[in-house]
Parts: sequence; C-alpha cells; structure tokens
Amino acid sequence: MTAADLVVVANRLPVDLERHPDGSTTWRRSPGGLVTALEPTLRAREGAWVGWPGVPDAEVEPFAEDGLSLFPVTLTAQEVTDYYEGFSNGTLWPLYHDVVAPPQFHRHWWRAYTAVNQRFAEEVAKVAAQGATVWVQDYQLQLVPGKLRELRPDLRIGFFLHIPFPPVELFRQLPWRTRIMEGLLGADLVGFHTDGGVRNFHWLAQELAGASPDRDPEVLHHGGRRIRLGAFPISIDSHRLDELARTPEVEKRAAEIRTELGSPEKIVLGVDRLDYTKGIDVRLRAFHELLEEERVSVDDAVMIQLATPSRERVEHYQQMRADIEQAVGRINGEFARVGHPAVHYLHRSLPREELAAFFLAADVMLVTPLRDGMNLVAKEYVACRPDDGGCLVLSEFAGAAIELTSALLVNPHDTDGVKEALYAALTMNAEEGRKRMRTLRRQVLDHDVDRWATGFLEALGIRVEQ
Ligand code: ADP
Ligand code: F6P
Repeated sequence: MTAADLVVVANRLPVDLERHPDGSTTWRRSPGGLVTALEPTLRAREGAWVGWPGVPDAEVEPFAEDGLSLFPVTLTAQEVTDYYEGFSNGTLWPLYHDVVAPPQFHRHWWRAYTAVNQRFAEEVAKVAAQGATVWVQDYQLQLVPGKLRELRPDLRIGFFLHIPFPPVELFRQLPWRTRIMEGLLGADLVGFHTDGGVRNFHWLAQELAGASPDRDPEVLHHGGRRIRLGAFPISIDSHRLDELARTPEVEKRAAEIRTELGSPEKIVLGVDRLDYTKGIDVRLRAFHELLEEERVSVDDAVMIQLATPSRERVEHYQQMRADIEQAVGRINGEFARVGHPAVHYLHRSLPREELAAFFLAADVMLVTPLRDGMNLVAKEYVACRPDDGGCLVLSEFAGAAIELTSALLVNPHDTDGVKEALYAALTMNAEEGRKRMRTLRRQVLDHDVDRWATGFLEALGIRVEQ
C-alpha cells in the first residue's frame, strides 16, 4: 500500500479480529465511541488507520476496506495484560475518570506502555508520507506524539483525548506525569472535549514540563515549538442516524419491540459499554425505588439495559458485571410477573439498525455516567428521534451535558435526584417533551462528527475540502 497523507492511529482498529473454535477468523466492528466517531470521518477522507486488531498475537498484513487502509499492530498476550488491561485500563482510565475506582500504579505496566507506544510510533513512521498529517487518538497512546516527532520531524501531529483530562490534583498522583506531559507536548495540536480539559492541561504542562504560556491562552511553547490547545466536542454522524430512524424498517421494528415487551405505557432504556463509569447501578437503583414506592408499576413501565461486553479480564469490570446482574435479578425477583420482567438486560452488542429501533421505541433514555468524556449514546438517542418524541435524562458529568442543556440534567451521585428526574421524564407532558427534544435535535444535527473532524484538522492547519 502507498504512503498515506492522513494517518489515524488509535489503540484499536475500527474492526476486531474474531477467532472461532474451528480456527477460522472474521472481522467485526470494534466497541466504543472512538470508532463510532472516527470511522465515517476517515472513510470520507480515504485515510490510513494504524491500530491493534483486538486479540493477542495477531500477525495480520495491512489490508484495504471500503476506502480505508488498515495497518494492524501486533500486541503479545503479555502486552495486552500490561499495556492495555494494566496501564491503560487499570491506571489511566480510573485516574482520568475522577478516580471513581482506585487506580493502580505498577512500574511493569508503565514499562509495557512505553514499549507499546514506541511500537505504534514506529509503525506510523513507516506508513506516513513525507509531510503527512498524523492524528493520534486517546489515552492509550499519549507518548506517541513525542516519540513520533523524534522519528519523523517532518510530520504534522495532532492528538485528541476522548476521555476527560483530569483535575490537576488527580493527574499529579501519576508517578510518570512528566513523561506523559512531554509525550503529549510532542503534538502540534492537543484537543480535548471541553474547556476544562484545556485549562487543566495548560496549567500542568507549565508546572510539570516547563512549557511557557503565550498571550493566547490556547497556546504553549515547549522545546522551541508552538503547541496549540483546543476544545473540540466530538459528535456522531447525526444525519445518517436521523435518516436511519426514518426508514420504514426501523419504524416497524420499534413498534414490534413495544409489542414484544407487552405494550407497556413507557419504555425506559439504557445503552452502554459495560463500564463502571457509566452509572448503570445508579439508574437501576432509581428504577427499583420507584417500583418499591409504587409510583411506577411493571404494567406502566419496563426498563431495558443493553450492555456491550467490555474489558472483561479487568477485575473492576468483573465485579461491576456481577453487581449489575445481581441488581437486575433482585428487581425482577421482587417486581416481575411471569412473562413480564421489570428489567430486560442484554449483555451483547446489537447491530446499528436494531439499536436505532430501540432508541426510537424508548420513551425515556437514561444516560447516567459518574464521569464521561462526551457520551455519544446521548447524541445518538436524540438523532434517532425525528418524531421529536422521547425524553433524555443526562448526567451533568458527561461532556455531552455542556451542549445538551435541554435534557433533564442529573447528578448521578444523588439517587433521589435521579429518581425524581426519571419520574419527571415518565410523567412529562407531551408538549414540553417535544419542545425539549426539538432543541436537542437542533444542537445534535448542527454539530455532527464531520464538523468536529473539520474543526480539529483546520486547527491543525490542514485545509479541508468540503
Ligand atoms: P464509550 O466510548 O465510553 O464506549 P460512548 O457513549 O461515547 O461511550 O460510545 C459508545 C458507542 O458504543 C456508541 O456508538 C453506542 O451506540 C455503542 N454501543 C453501546 N452499547 C451498545 C450495544 N449494546 N450494542 C451496540 N452498540 C453499542
Ligand atoms: O473513548 C473511550 C474508549 O476507551 C476508546 O478509546 C475505545 O475505543 C472505547 O472506549 C472502547 O474501549 P476498549 O477499546 O477498551 O474496548
């Protein structure tokens, strides 16, 4: 394959390799918001994507797929344990999400993180054309900008963080904080979802890495270079989802879902990667209490929780899955009738069309993370409501809350508050609901993922053809 002018590098490829018991392999879409957002963007620009195929020891040759060139990076089983499950998801993930679980600091995890970041940088250096633009993604690859600049000073390098950048007091706990800062400062542009992330980074870069400020609060100087910072709230391919939700197939499937559920008056929905940051327990508790207080009955309202399996070998994830499944069992044990569960729980990933039908069927969407960089599910729900129906209950601690102010905003640490918001959503008068949804839809349809990508690339100095 020829050298690429635009290269995205992310921990994962947009597709995961699946190994079957008979020895055959297939590819399936990778989980998570990063892929949802970047895939349409990069496909439209015919770029290259460097990433891990999602399973250990996969030696796969580069291949082309529908306008994208994919360059797989091999990780050994030990690297998956130490770099991915360890440092990325046992140290950085909880630390950057306001320590909602305690992060662990292990030197051998850090060593694996630096070695794997070096490998990613070397792969990109091979793939990128002279003077190419490289867009590095997310917390798993924070050392790549610095390492890549050493290997290929000709490249223009952008970095975008898909998760929150933490408050300074939390970041300073990290034993390798200065190395991470220096890694990120290797980029020409460092992007975050929110202004809060920009401010935290601006302060820490000076404090830890000796960067100098500029008159412009979104510029730093370091190592004789000028580094731009910026807030770029990510989004979704909202028009495509809006169109999908208008198709007769999706409308028909949404109606079928309601019938299959026994035609309840209200359907309450949650859709998440099964992650302890998502506050799935919070919403189950709120629903449970409404049933207990007899303000809601299983004839009025049914809850559905769709949960994509995620990071299943990491201890916190195993514990959380057990807790959630126990809570679902308990609610059903107390309130279900034969053939009428109070909570339907599906531990699997669904196709986009099916997901759109669930969004269209849901009267109330519960998005209650304790902390979330953005949360694309909230935007997807809104995009899937061309009927202006439905009501979004959204955590204040999701990046999306900054834009989606017409949702019912809740503090997920306040069970009573979540419960009252859920009750308000279930009983909201139709006119107020439609008014809120119309405002939300204007925001989501105007600010789609293409606008996000174009904004980032233009800030990086790339002229983008419209
Ligand atoms: P994160 O990146 O932390 O997973 P986001 O909400 O930003 O969170 O993105 C999650 C993405 O995964 C969304 O595009 C959402 O539609 C998708 N997703 C979540 N759960 C499921 C599921 N059960 N089936 C299919 N897709 C899912
Ligand atoms: O944005 C958060 C994120 O960690 C992405 O980097 C990732 O692609 C997604 O969530 C899913 O997580 P994982 O790749 O660990 O399954």
